[in-house]
Amino acid sequence: MNTDLYQAFARLLADTYTLYLKTQNYHWHVRGPYFKTLHLMFEEQYLQLATAIDSLAERILTMGQTAPATFAKFNELRRIQEGDSQKKAEQMVSELCEDHQLLLQDLYKALKLAQEQNDEGSANLLSDRIAEHEKTHWMLKASAL
Ligand SMILES: [Fe+2]
Repeated sequence: MNTDLYQAFARLLADTYTLYLKTQNYHWHVRGPYFKTLHLMFEEQYLQLATAIDSLAERILTMGQTAPATFAKFNELRRIQEGDSQKKAEQMVSELCEDHQLLLQDLYKALKLAQEQNDEGSANLLSDRIAEHEKTHWMLKASAL
């Protein structure tokens, strides 16, 4: 794994971990008439993100590198902002929607790097991540209050 691709994976891991925690935070703290629907949708999403975290980290290991694995390291690397449990349900949905969009931008950049290096294993993983984030982004957008 070349340095640029490693940096891209490390940041994707930090941002995915941040989005995982943020989605779980909103699963816990969302309020209002759509509580049940959003509570369940956020649960489904954070469970998917947990699986993604493991895949991204283990790809880094597979390529002979060390995965960032502490909150301090994630704070250094991440672009996604942490959640605020006081936000209204509509803000939670629109914020998560933007976060998935931001992750998609970084995933497309990383995919380009992997393809340039004929790194099919990384490219496959990144393509799968793109498809899942696009679907989640659509669901959040469709749930806008
Ligand atoms: Fe729960």
